[in-house]
Formats: sequence, structure tokens, C-alpha cells
Amino acid sequence: MSKLNLIIFLLLLIQRSQSKQDSQYGKSFVFVGGGLSENNTVIYKKIIDMAGGQNTARIGMIAAASADPLDSFGYYKTVFLNYGAKEVNFIPIHVANKSANSDPVVVQLIKQQTGFFFSGGDQARIIDSFFGNGHTISPAMRAIIEQNNMGVVVAGSSAGTACQPSAVMVEGGVSYDALRYGAHTSSSHSDDLVYLQHGGTGLFDGYILDSHFGNRGREGRLIRLLSDTRHLSNGVDYGIGVDENTALVITHAGTSTATGHILGESGVTIIDVSKSQTEPQDGDFNIRDVYMTYLTRGDEINLNTHTVKFAPSKTKLGGHEQYDWALTSSDIFYGLRKNEHKSEFLRVAASVFDARLDRSSYGVTYETSPRFTVRMSKTGSNSEGWVERHSSFQTDLHSYKNMYVEITTQG
Ligand SMILES: *[C@@H]1O[C@H](CO)[C@@H](O)[C@H](O)[C@H]1NC(C)=O
Ligand SMILES: *[C@@H]1O[C@H](CO)[C@@H](O)[C@H](O)[C@H]1NC(C)=O
Repeated sequence: MSKLNLIIFLLLLIQRSQSKQDSQYGKSFVFVGGGLSENNTVIYKKIIDMAGGQNTARIGMIAAASADPLDSFGYYKTVFLNYGAKEVNFIPIHVANKSANSDPVVVQLIKQQTGFFFSGGDQARIIDSFFGNGHTISPAMRAIIEQNNMGVVVAGSSAGTACQPSAVMVEGGVSYDALRYGAHTSSSHSDDLVYLQHGGTGLFDGYILDSHFGNRGREGRLIRLLSDTRHLSNGVDYGIGVDENTALVITHAGTSTATGHILGESGVTIIDVSKSQTEPQDGDFNIRDVYMTYLTRGDEINLNTHTVKFAPSKTKLGGHEQYDWALTSSDIFYGLRKNEHKSEFLRVAASVFDARLDRSSYGVTYETSPRFTVRMSKTGSNSEGWVERHSSFQTDLHSYKNMYVEITTQG
């Protein structure tokens, strides 16, 4: 073989190995909602598989969200190696080492990875580490984007998920305060809904991302953030909230076949405010025509058309409901109670679909002045509930699509 032929042969080899990763999953993500248990084999194996497989995967760890990045790296390194990753490499960019984001050695290291994992903490630290003033992008972030566009999977948990949108990025806040006081770009109150208008890393388009979702009752906060920002330049009509120890696996992002499927313990909420109307009552936020979809393991969604395919293990609830009446709640954004499987919001929503005689129900906020009422209904067009039965209402795995939601104030 001549020297030139050898070079061409090697180039073809490199191209083949890259296009293999590319063609199988396209631009891909594994968004975990935080609380990822180290025994969650399905999710860890999926990340390693999408990063090239056992004994091949080279995981670049980005621990910039953590207050102690090396500690976070050490933890995940052990876990990923135990699950068969070939290498786990520390990408040394964090708020105390920001200059690394333009170090050519670090950029080179990034280019050698077959997957990335963004660990949890505070998503603002990730943006501070990878972007300059005015959200100017660093060479390291650009390299991650290029890798991801070529088919290198980006996984994240908690802040590592919330940081990924090109749309506005949620930074903090709780549902009640979000509904009462609205979205802010900065605040000294930790319960206030705060967001970054420039957006997150920009890897994932079209949706605001949130984590610890049902666990912390963040439904109200995401609805309010979408509603308050949808008309801004980085605003969008859709949001995704991922529950703890659960993953949304996205393949072929940015194409017409972009698909999300759900793995793990709980579920993923998709909020659609594209048809929503806000009508303040006595100065208080009120919204109607919000649609919510909740998917659990085995379900799939096309992220362009929002078409849902429920898992073959599930049956459609219309005609197979187990209860007469739906449940209500006096603390709708409580989140997940200890030793229960369904968050307060899901308990009411699932009961609407699992009730023979009710078509809608509601929950109110625990807080008053004003007290918000969240009304949920299965009467909307294209609304469906599905279930995989287990031993009780709490352990049954419910999913639904296009549940109608409105939030109003009473008195
Ligand atoms: C995984 O670990 C958690 C505790 O962290 C435990 O509650 C659960 O039962 C374990 N699951 C499996 C499948 O071992
Ligand atoms: C900071 O980044 C440099 C590369 O630019 C790296 O060599 C060094 O180990 C990093 N330091 C820490 C504390 O992460």
C-alpha cells in the first residue's frame, strides 16, 4: 500500500467509526431527572451503550455544577467503570478553573470522548464555567456541541439536564411562588422562580428542561415559566420535566424523527402552552388551555409532532377504569411523599383517567391569598390514559396524553 493509500484507508476508517455512532442514534441525549441510584442498571447501561458500548465508551465527566467537582467526578467514575465504561475522564472546567474552557489541551480531550455526562448541583455554575459575558461561547463548549452534532451522546442528571436547552434556562424557585409572583431574571428570595434569559448550553432545542419534577411538585413553576417567557426571543411553547431516577432518552434530535423514550423509575412530563390563554383575576395569574402529557417507562414520543406511542405493556384506560371517582388534593404541589410512588399532582391526574364516573378533578395549593386551583380534565380532544397494572393505585404505572389543565384563583 502506498503512503497516500494508507492515509486514505485510515481516513475512511475514522469516518466509518464516526458515522457508525452518528447513524445509529443521531444527535442524542440521556436526560435524567436527578436522584440517579447507582443500582439503576438500565439507565447507566443505556448511557454506556450509546457512548459506544462496554469496553469502548470513553465518558467525559463535566462536574461544573457541583460545589466539589472532583468529589462528584470520583463518585461517577467508580459507577461508570463498574458498569463497563472503558475510561471516565475529568473535563477540568469549573467556576474555579474557568480558563480551562479555552485550553487547547482540554478541547483535545473533549474531542476524544465518545460520550459526556453532566453531573448535578447548580446549573448556573455550568453556564458560568462554559460561557463568557453576554453568553459568549467558549472553545470547549463549541467542541462539545460539535461532538454532539456528530452523534456523541450527551447525558446529564439534575442540573446536568436543566442546563441543556437553547431556550430559557430555569435556575430555581417553587411552584406556588412562581404562580404568585411570576418569573424573574434575578431575585434574593430562594423560592422565587428565576431563569436565565440567554438560555442554557444550547445543545437541545425547542423545550425548557427541568428535573426532580414530580418529586418536588414543579408543575406550576414550569407552566408559569413557559407562559411568562414564550414571547421572548428564547421563549418556547413546550417544557419537559423529568422525575428522579428516570431518564428521557432522545435520539435523532433536530430531525423529523426525533424520538424520546422513557426509562427508569417514574416518568416524564411534557407541558404544552401553545394554545394557552392567561386571564389575570384581581391581579392574580390565571391560565387555561394548558395540555400535559405524562409518560412512563416504555412509552415513546415524537418530539416534533408530539405523537405518543404507549408501551405494549400498558392498556388503554377508557372502558377499563378501576375506580368510580377521581381524587382531589389540598396541597397539589406537595411533590412526592415518603414511601409513596406517585407525587401529589400525579395522584390526582392518574385518578382522573382511572375514574369511571368523573371526567375531571382538581387540587388546590396549600398556600392561600391567593389559593390557586389546578383543574385537570380528560375531556379534551385526543386525550388518553394508559396503565400497566401492579398491586395498587400507588404502584400502577399510569401514563396519559393531552390532559387539559387550567389554573385559577378562588377568592
Ligand atoms: C436500589 O437502591 C435503592 C436504595 O438506594 C433501593 O431502595 C432499591 O430497592 C434498589 N433497587 C434494586 C433493584 O436493587
Ligand atoms: C484546571 O485546568 C487545567 C487545564 O487548563 C488542568 O490542567 C488543571 O488540572 C485544572 N485544575 C483543576 C483544579 O481542575
